Formats: sequence, structure tokens, C-alpha cells
Amino acid sequence: MDIYDQLKEKFEAEGQDINVHLNGLLHSKQMTYWDYIQTDALLNLQIQRTTQKDEMVFIMYHQINELLFKMILWEIEQIADKEKVSPTFFSERLGRVSRYFDMLSSSFEIMGDGMEIEQYMKFRDTLAPASGFQSAQYRMIEFASTELINLIDNRFRVSIDRDTPFSHAYEHLYWQAAGKNYETGEKSALLLNFEKRYMDDFIVFMQKYNTLNLWTKFKSLPKTTQKDIGLINAMRHYDHTVNVLWVMAHLNAAAKYLNSGKETAEATGGSEWQKYMHPKYQKRIFFPDLWSEDELKNWGVTNLEGHEIVEKN
Ligand code: HEM
Repeated sequence: MDIYDQLKEKFEAEGQDINVHLNGLLHSKQMTYWDYIQTDALLNLQIQRTTQKDEMVFIMYHQINELLFKMILWEIEQIADKEKVSPTFFSERLGRVSRYFDMLSSSFEIMGDGMEIEQYMKFRDTLAPASGFQSAQYRMIEFASTELINLIDNRFRVSIDRDTPFSHAYEHLYWQAAGKNYETGEKSALLLNFEKRYMDDFIVFMQKYNTLNLWTKFKSLPKTTQKDIGLINAMRHYDHTVNVLWVMAHLNAAAKYLNSGKETAEATGGSEWQKYMHPKYQKRIFFPDLWSEDELKNWGVTNLEGHEIVEKN
């Protein structure tokens, strides 16, 4: 069939007249890079609040992070939405997701070494009570990667199971500890603002990924594939990159700035950041079943980089 007949068939199936579309082509504009990539829109989104030049580095790097978060969610969503995921499809998508997060952890020096401390300490004062903590996509990546129980604060895990309502589980997510006083129930502006904007969306998202997250999808693969050392190492690599390497890169960068004065500075979001942000306290682990007891115990304490399981004969 030549191209004309194919197009005619396509438009007829949609109840449309091919001639109208062909006439439209007579007046169409040539495609350009800037129209396709939307560079004008993209490059107009960097708005400083202060006169400090390095604030631009801070804004742009956060935006780059959000774009990569979007790429990660795009891939996880494909695994989630596919009814029968083949082992190849799963590992290829997991590989993509991992490469994006590798990029995020290995580039964090852009924050740690890429700004003058004096400038950072000036523009940060205009940002309170905002914080990267309020990145909704970051939270969505967590919900989409693992079962909810693994994101619950360690202290409350025993009181939560699969029948617990999502809104109750939400109140006990590990990150509530950044701004919630568990004795009084009072929450900081950081948390309240975040929840007002996103809580309803999060509950819907949590419901969807309750059965479609990466860990549950992994468990739906054939038993032999689940035992494949290459795949297990890829899962461990992703878990370790997100929950130790990135977390430590982030904490080290934060510490460099916030510990730079005579006294330790308060976080813009107001958390007790030294304690809250360390992986050994948070113990967030997406795939705990893939780690040994010892590795779980020493999460964030021992450096597990390059620590791959080797096939036993
Ligand atoms: C100099 C740069 C940075 C500093 C000083 C910093 C500092 C902090 C601090 C202190 C917190 C704890 C919450 C609070 O009280 O504010 C936090 C949380 C967070 N920040 Fe950053 N941050 C920096 C860069 C970034 C970047 C580039 C991102 C990327 C989007 C990011 C994403 C996050 C996320 C997702 C959290 C929540 C982590 C969790 O709940 O454990 N931060 N940050």
C-alpha cells in the first residue's frame, strides 16, 4: 500500500477526510529545534530572588533534578502499566532508571563545590520555609519504587499493615519526622504547605502504586528471573544509589554550607537535619529482601559501593 492509501485508511478510521489534512500541510511551518524542544519556554524558567550570581546555579541544578525525576517516573510508569512485564523489559527500564539516578548522585558536587559559601548563605535566607524536601516527584519516585511499609518510619512499622488506611500510613511516613512533633501532632510550615498542595495527589498515587511498584513488579517476574544475579545486582545498585549514595552526597553538601559558620545554621525547612537526613537513621531501603541481615544493620554506615553479590558455584 502506498503512503496515500495508508493515510486515507487511517483518517477514514477516525471519521475524517484526508483532503482536509493534506490541505493543512500546504500551510504548515518548517520544524525547528527550538520549537520542538521548547527552548524559549525552558530557558525562561530561571528566576532569581536575589542579586547573588550563584543563586542561578542553585535554581538550575534543582530544575535539572526535577527533569531527571520526571524521566525516572516515566520509565517506572511503563513497568507499572504493562500487564505482563517480560524480564528483558523490566531490566532494560530498571537500567535506565539507575543511569538517571547515577547521574544525580555523581553530579551532586555541583551543589557541594559549585557555589560560594558566602553567596549561598545570603540567598538561602530568602527561601525559608521552602526546601528540596518539598519535591513531590522525589516522593513519587519513592512510592513507585517500593511497598509502602518500607517508607514507614521504623518506630511505627509494627502498627501498620496492608489493611491500614492510606491516610493513616501517610501520617507515619519516615519523612514526617522532618517537621512533625509526634507528642503534640503539631506540624511545621514545611510539612503543612507541602501537604496542602500535594497530600490528595499522594494518596491517589500511593493507591495506584500499592500493587504496581517496582518491588511488587519484580516479584511478579518468573521465579528463575528473580534469582538472576545480574538482575538482583541491578536492583541493589538502584536501591543503594538512591538511598545511600544520593542521600550522603546531599547530606555532605548540606553540611558544608550549614556548618560553615561559627554555629551550625538552621535548615531552611527547619528540620533537625543532621539527624534527620542520615541514611543510618532513616533506614529507607526499597528492597530489604535483597540485602543480608548484616548489610541491613549497617545501612548507611558501611560503604557498600561496588559491593556486588558474586555467583556461588
Ligand atoms: C546546597 C544545596 C542543598 C542544601 C543545603 C540542602 C539542604 C536540605 C536540608 C537541610 C533538608 C532537610 C529538610 C529541611 O529542613 O530543609 C533537605 C531535604 C531535601 N532536599 Fe535538599 N539541599 C540542597 C540541595 C538539594 C537539591 C539539589 C535537591 C534536588 C531536588 C534536594 C532535594 C531534597 C530532598 C528530596 C529532600 C528531602 C530528603 C528527605 O526527606 O530525606 N536538595 N535539603
